[in-house]
Amino acid sequence: MLQRQHRAALAVLAIVLCTDLPGHAAQEATGREGAVASRSPRATDVGIEVLRRGGNAIDAAVAVGFALAVTHPSAGNLGGGGFMVIRLADGELVANDHREKAPSRAHRDMFLDEGGEVVTGLSTASHLAVGVPGSVDGLLAILERHGTLSRQEIIAPVLALARDGFPLPADIAAQFARLRPRFEPYPASLAKFTGADGKPLEAGDLFRQPDLAATLARIAEQGRAGFYEGTTADLIVAEMARGGGLIGHRDLAEYRSVWREPVRGTYRGYQIISMPPPSSGGALLIQMLNMLEPYDLASLGRGNPAAVHLMIEAERRAYADRAEHMGDTDFYDVPLEMLMDKDYARHRFADFDPETASRSEDIGAGSWPDESPETTHVSVMDSAGNAVAYTTTLNLGYGSKIVVAGAGFLLNNEMDDFSSKPGVPNSFGLVGAEANAIEPGKRMLSSMTPTLVLKDGEPVLATGSPGGSTIITTVLQVITNVIDHGMDVVTAVAAPRFHHQWLPDQVRYEPGAFTTDTLASLAKIGHVGFRETPGIGDANSVMRVGDEITARSDPRNAGAAAAY
Ligand code: GLY
Repeated sequence: MLQRQHRAALAVLAIVLCTDLPGHAAQEATGREGAVASRSPRATDVGIEVLRRGGNAIDAAVAVGFALAVTHPSAGNLGGGGFMVIRLADGELVANDHREKAPSRAHRDMFLDEGGEVVTGLSTASHLAVGVPGSVDGLLAILERHGTLSRQEIIAPVLALARDGFPLPADIAAQFARLRPRFEPYPASLAKFTGADGKPLEAGDLFRQPDLAATLARIAEQGRAGFYEGTTADLIVAEMARGGGLIGHRDLAEYRSVWREPVRGTYRGYQIISMPPPSSGGALLIQMLNMLEPYDLASLGRGNPAAVHLMIEAERRAYADRAEHMGDTDFYDVPLEMLMDKDYARHRFADFDPETASRSEDIGAGSWPDESPETTHVSVMDSAGNAVAYTTTLNLGYGSKIVVAGAGFLLNNEMDDFSSKPGVPNSFGLVGAEANAIEPGKRMLSSMTPTLVLKDGEPVLATGSPGGSTIITTVLQVITNVIDHGMDVVTAVAAPRFHHQWLPDQVRYEPGAFTTDTLASLAKIGHVGFRETPGIGDANSVMRVGDEITARSDPRNAGAAAAY
């Protein structure tokens, strides 16, 4: 009954949200050989073709990663960073961290004025906002270690898309038009996102990216040297010089992605495998699941005020711990074991009062982002048992908005994910402290949560999301929807979401997430700051049940799922 109600409500939501689906790409697909879900129909196509040609899920995920840089420019990237969590067919679990790093000339107070106040916009809309990009090194390292196809085979179809162009989807054309004033200070950005005559590109216009194609060709030919050395590196450093940025040749030459042990937790008999620091996502997800595990969410029912209250209180405590304790473990001693310990969760949640909301301390005026938190997530599985959860980002939509002149790709504004000043919120309203202060060569704290759920060691679910601070709670809800509420992946991904992040003390929720009665009940026990916000997350996911693998692109956006 509950499932039927959800499906009815969600069908309406899906119709409202998917009217601009380019070419009406499928948003759910089931097969037995392999499945891909991503935000971009063309990138999903590239991935499924790689699988059909005999590549494994890792090959496909890497190909989708490169393709997103061409077809989903707001978040897909060469000039950003990401995290990939992989379950290999032989059961090995690995994670690749290709998060951006602070340049060697970065310093702790670089976003403060002489009076010690944060200069608005400096960490998001300037050449100083750019961290040393990691995506190219990461994708190539992953392919080399766990892929089966050559980098030329992987990059060829992506390069063709950039060189020959593709008809611009309506949603992306609208983004270009909306962001034109933000591209205007940067001639290469303006040139890339407008037509040859300077007029706006319209839906259906052929979108060609010759400079990006040339950069991809250098990468295909030379590997990481095609990006971190030679022509591309020269172009990045020249771009930095034009705008007072800090990245130099040495920063690029020395950048290396890092193989890390995924964080592991358990939840009601399932294994939760996710991203360790410099993402806060995996640890927070496991911490919240640990806090929720003693409670019978299934009996309470999804959307029931008592269940929502429980989840908000878990989120409040976990995000408070994030602000205090979390940063790059290569620079700061993060108490990871404590944060993911089931006893710690019991202790941390001991003051939970089922009758009353707790209050977040007021240590700064948090606010929600006024820009889209445009990260993007890809999930892939194949029949051999490889499973990939991959999240990649430029940080805010179109990152710094700066295209490297002559190289055709956007640079991130990931430096904003550091804590510019203790207690002062970043673009996602997140506060931080010493653990996430800027230091040369340090990786900024992330919320990206690429996650695999296993049962008896076998992959069940690959999931993740964009959404800045809302990423972790989005993943939490997809997982509880599947495990506690027995939903299939199609329903679990579509179900309306809510979010709390300690500070600001607000409950953000999608239309349909709460009934009027639930809202009244939550307010009655003291929850505050209710804020209806459409479009929390974009959880492109893949789920395996028996031999069937179902890909589900999030109906909040015009992505695509494919399987065969
Ligand atoms: N830039 C968003 C994140 O990494 O959390």
